[in-house]
Amino acid sequence: MFASGRSVISPFAHSAERPGDVVPIHHPNDDDQHAAGPLGGYRSTRGHDDLQAENLDLRREVQERLGPGVIVGRSAAIQRVLEQARQVAATDSTVLLLGETGTGKELIATQIHEQSSRRRRVMVRINCAAIPSTLIESELFGREKGAFTGALARQIGRFELADHSTIFLDEIGDLPPDTQVKLLRVLEERQIERLGSPKAVGVDVRIIAATHRNLEQRITEDAFRQDLYYRLNVFPIEVPPLRDRTEDIPLLVWRFIDEFSRSFGKRVDAISRDNMEALQRYPWPGNIRELRNVVERAMIVAVGNNPTIPIPAQPPSSLRRSVKLVDVEKEHVLRVVEGCRWRIRGVDGAAERLGLRPTTLETRMTKLGIKRPGRDD
Ligand SMILES: Nc1ncnc2c1ncn2[C@@H]1O[C@H](COP(=O)(O)OP(=O)(O)O)[C@@H](O)[C@H]1O
Ligand SMILES: [Mg+2]
Repeated sequence: MFASGRSVISPFAHSAERPGDVVPIHHPNDDDQHAAGPLGGYRSTRGHDDLQAENLDLRREVQERLGPGVIVGRSAAIQRVLEQARQVAATDSTVLLLGETGTGKELIATQIHEQSSRRRRVMVRINCAAIPSTLIESELFGREKGAFTGALARQIGRFELADHSTIFLDEIGDLPPDTQVKLLRVLEERQIERLGSPKAVGVDVRIIAATHRNLEQRITEDAFRQDLYYRLNVFPIEVPPLRDRTEDIPLLVWRFIDEFSRSFGKRVDAISRDNMEALQRYPWPGNIRELRNVVERAMIVAVGNNPTIPIPAQPPSSLRRSVKLVDVEKEHVLRVVEGCRWRIRGVDGAAERLGLRPTTLETRMTKLGIKRPGRDD
């Protein structure tokens, strides 16, 4: 996937779904007769007549675990993640959540905060990839009135807002290099300086950062500072992709069916075994977010109580990693150029780093279709 230009779409702080917004549904036939069923029994050898019983077992397992901050999953992989989250929650240590997009990093960050002593205050969220780089500093650190043209009022930054609470720095791998330096200072000194004010303000903030990027690779591309990486990499938690924990898929499917049957007023009794197995074979490049969207779409069009959840045909091509040399070249050039903030020429410019003459690089960029994204300032 090519690293695209930074999105400049607001809202800056992404709205997060709060966990625990699902209320169990009770079916008239959802009584105790199936309660003894093995919860791990989806792939059991029981006959087709028992399909509905299996579905009910799964549904019951999901419902029993529903509640604030509940993260669905029985796989060893997710259980290990939850154990790590539980261990670190009690501390003030910095947490680094790593994993593909849609794997549940934000949900886990929320759970860590909710299990910490800071839970009485709301966790402050910021998506570092969604804010134009010209505004990110004042978003994070605040600014005094008149700090720059157009700064008409004083603005409190997210770090100050998160005092005595947790700040969730999402997509930290996309933080612009000059902001990385400032963030490093905050982490080292636990003090912030508002733009336009030389006075440092102390803040007591617990940091949880997340990224879908490979930070070590970003460091070799000069797009991420190594010193910042070491500061953040105190307690890394790797959240595994959904295709590596397919045993969680039936539970998640039922979790989302219950969520959407409630909001759409539709009732679902069973999902066929073939359908569920097909869902487990699909690689889910968008992970749990993609699965949730697929279930939502299926529930919108569902008629009857035994709907089939369609399997996405193919991962969208942009999500499949190309092995073509030209694509790999384009991706690499783009990363390096972005890492140099689009400075082609001069010492430490992109051309020098790539070992090319600037004109050669420019010609190649045109050929590869690499254009500097429109700037908003
Ligand atoms: N284990 C899980 N159980 C239930 N829902 C989940 C789980 N993991 C992720 N989700 C849901 O999937 C979606 C994507 O999760 P999110 O935390 O935003 O992923 P990421 O931050 O890694 O991109 C959200 O709707 C989230 O509530
Ligand atoms: Mg996310």
